[in-house]
Amino acid sequence: MSVHKEVKRVTVHVVQAMKMRGEKISMLTAYDFSMAKILDAAGIDVLLVGDSASNVMAGHETTLPITLDQMIYHASSVVRGVKRALIVVDLPFGTYQGDSKKALNSAIRIMKESGAHAVKLEGGKEIEDSIKRILSAGVPVMGHLGLTPQSIYKFGTYTVRAKEEEEAKRLIKDAKHLEKLGCFAVVLEKIPAALAKQVSESINIPTIGIGGGADTDGQVLVTHDLLGITKDFHPRFLRRYLELFDLIKEAVEEYIKDVKSGDFPNENEQY
Ligand code: KIV
Repeated sequence: MSVHKEVKRVTVHVVQAMKMRGEKISMLTAYDFSMAKILDAAGIDVLLVGDSASNVMAGHETTLPITLDQMIYHASSVVRGVKRALIVVDLPFGTYQGDSKKALNSAIRIMKESGAHAVKLEGGKEIEDSIKRILSAGVPVMGHLGLTPQSIYKFGTYTVRAKEEEEAKRLIKDAKHLEKLGCFAVVLEKIPAALAKQVSESINIPTIGIGGGADTDGQVLVTHDLLGITKDFHPRFLRRYLELFDLIKEAVEEYIKDVKSGDFPNENEQY
């Protein structure tokens, strides 16, 4: 018998089965090989190559500027670091809205050029043609409702969405519609916990919450927020597990001190 331990890959069917048996789904963002490797080794179920890379990696104020080529670069780096997790990639702003052929081409480029497993699109009924066309090519689609950062200039702020009844009703309708179209899961961002619970109970596909309370089928955070690399971002929904900005800064200060004093390198650190 082989001693090689096969890694069982997480697929879209695995995450759907997790919902059915009440097992919570863990999801985090990743944009590069090294971080993806760590998160995968820790046992994360789903890695999202989010367009939040536009903020976190490139320093833009919004997610709008990131391009398809840049998303493919991030996604292919993540794919090379991962053995187990399901890898989902955001279709960036302007690559799928209002033109389903363009949407399909964008999704195909991501799948072919990065080796990722699924794509994520922001929106409900208004993007159904794009979703249908992508699904018809056999590409799994994750939806994203609630606060959809690619529409920030329509919303005006990053505050909680769907607090009013009309928007809440529309969101429930959109979630059911995404399920009917064939999406395998849906992200619910920054909506009231009671609404996220109601949505999660009304559809059979998994809901992944960020700022949607404890009753969604899974949770997602931006890894750089969870690790405290982004220092000045303090939304109520965020739990920080490390203060990495400070830890890295302290280590680098020490290195600078050692270089300046001539303490580094010592005789064991040279040839
Ligand atoms: O881009 C991203 O990181 C996301 C998550 C916040 C869900 O879409």
